[in-house]
Amino acid sequence: MAIREIRVEGDEILTKRCKEVKVFNEKLHTLLDDMYETMQKAGGVGLAAPQVGILKRAVIIDVGEGLVELINPEIISQKGTQNGSEGCLSVPGVYGMVERPETVTVRAQDRNGRRFKMTGQGLMARAMCHEVEHLEGILFREHVTEYCEKE
Ligand code: CO
Repeated sequence: MAIREIRVEGDEILTKRCKEVKVFNEKLHTLLDDMYETMQKAGGVGLAAPQVGILKRAVIIDVGEGLVELINPEIISQKGTQNGSEGCLSVPGVYGMVERPETVTVRAQDRNGRRFKMTGQGLMARAMCHEVEHLEGILFREHVTEYCEKE
C-alpha cells in the first residue's frame, strides 16, 4: 500500500466527471487499498478516486462502522433531511453547513464487481452523498449555506 497525493480545490481533476469502472482487477484493488491508507493518514471519513487523481467511479467511506467500498455507486433513493457541518480532504480547513438526506440507499459494486445495495443513515448518508458527488466533479462548497469553524 502507498499514500497517494490528495488533490486540492483548484485542481481541475476535481471538477471532472469520472468514468465507470469496468475492470475489477489488481490495479483497482491497489487503488482502493492506497485510498484507504491515504484517507486514514489524513483523518477523513471518505475519499473518492478523483481526489487522488484517478477519474474512476470508486469511493471509500469509513464513518466508524467499518470500511465500505462503493464502485460505480448510484443513489437510488433518499428520505428525510439533516443539516450539519461538512468538510472535505480536498478543501482543507474549510467547514460549512450542508443539508443532506437523512437516509440514502445506493446501488453499487464491490471490488470484485459483485452488485449490492446498501442503506445508510446520518453521517453515513451524508458521506455517501458527498463522495458520490465527487464522481460528478462536484465539491461540497456548492451546497454550503453557511461556513463554520470546524466539523
Ligand atoms: Co470530499
